[in-house]
Amino acid sequence: MSGEIVSWENSKWAENSNPLSVEQKKELRDIAQRIVADGRGILAADESTGTFGKRMASIGVENSETNRRIYRQTLFEQAARVKPYIGGVILFEETLYQVDPVSGERIVRLLQAQNITLGIKVDQGIKDQEGCPGEVVTKGLDGLSARCKQYKKDGCDFAKWRGVLKIQASGTPSDANIKAVTSDLAKYARMCQQNGLVPIVEPEILPDGDHSIEVCQRVAEKVLSAQYKELIEHDVYIEGTLLKPNMVTSGQSCVDKAGHDEIALRTVTAFKRVVPPAMPGVVFLSGGMSEEDASLNLNAMNSLRQPPHSIDIPWKLSFSFGRALQASAIKAWAGKDENRAACGEAFYQRAKANGEACHGMYKGSGDANTDSLFVANHVY
Ligand code: 13P
Repeated sequence: MSGEIVSWENSKWAENSNPLSVEQKKELRDIAQRIVADGRGILAADESTGTFGKRMASIGVENSETNRRIYRQTLFEQAARVKPYIGGVILFEETLYQVDPVSGERIVRLLQAQNITLGIKVDQGIKDQEGCPGEVVTKGLDGLSARCKQYKKDGCDFAKWRGVLKIQASGTPSDANIKAVTSDLAKYARMCQQNGLVPIVEPEILPDGDHSIEVCQRVAEKVLSAQYKELIEHDVYIEGTLLKPNMVTSGQSCVDKAGHDEIALRTVTAFKRVVPPAMPGVVFLSGGMSEEDASLNLNAMNSLRQPPHSIDIPWKLSFSFGRALQASAIKAWAGKDENRAACGEAFYQRAKANGEACHGMYKGSGDANTDSLFVANHVY
């Protein structure tokens, strides 16, 4: 061998195109770890106005700005009770700025007063992807950096962007769609980090379809490995991110559905193959499972850390549930002031159940809601 030895410091490998300082990285790492510390998870209360309207229609309540505030404020009023279980709340932009007319304060103050971290949905929904029949991509990259900067100023420390992938007999998700969805998520993640927000990376594989759990596992491994390749290629700081995936399950209309133990084992097996240990926390979406199934599945996963399996799992396994934390609360409220205490109590019970499931200590509950919360082709 001849010639100079090239020092790597001078090579292209030393150039990091995502120039985060040591302090910025520490801040991101601390936020991500704080949200999922000690068995805590996330309340996803960021339903778009349209999706919230569907929830309200189910209880015959008008989808007005006031009703959206009253309902969400009712949940936030539980902050002192749920803070052992809830580390963060994802908001829809409207909620971040809503003010309680009585106290004159922004309603998110209820969360901040209990050190519950504020997050914000920054995607703008989905649209059909040209060239990929039946598949979709997520909108919202234009102007995203400026929006992130503003949200950080206004009290948010993390963000959410939902990518959507579909398993269909035609062979989807296609390679082209996986590439489009995961690379947009990586671009979003990078912009968030540059503005001090921890990105929740959510490549959701919808449960729609009659496929087996084996198919779901295979697709999950493929999508998540593509996701981490994109994040690395975009110089995203992995320690300052959270992953929000679906659990590996049988398709919604599969006739022979896998149970909690198989769901837990296949999910953890798939993730151990492709999710880096540097990533601090997996915060699952509930994807239309019943409240009870979501909690029992999460519990079964965390139980794998204990004998007889004693699996070494490198990340927190937690929740970022929308439907599975709120279905009973919405029903209990029914739009009536006198039901607000019952609504808060129903939310508290689900938060507690899922907090216990994060420790593998949820025993199930006889009166829990086992109704499926599935919505075909779910939009958020
Ligand atoms: P579900 O838990 O209702 O699936 O929704 C969580 C979410 O935030 C989807 O982006």
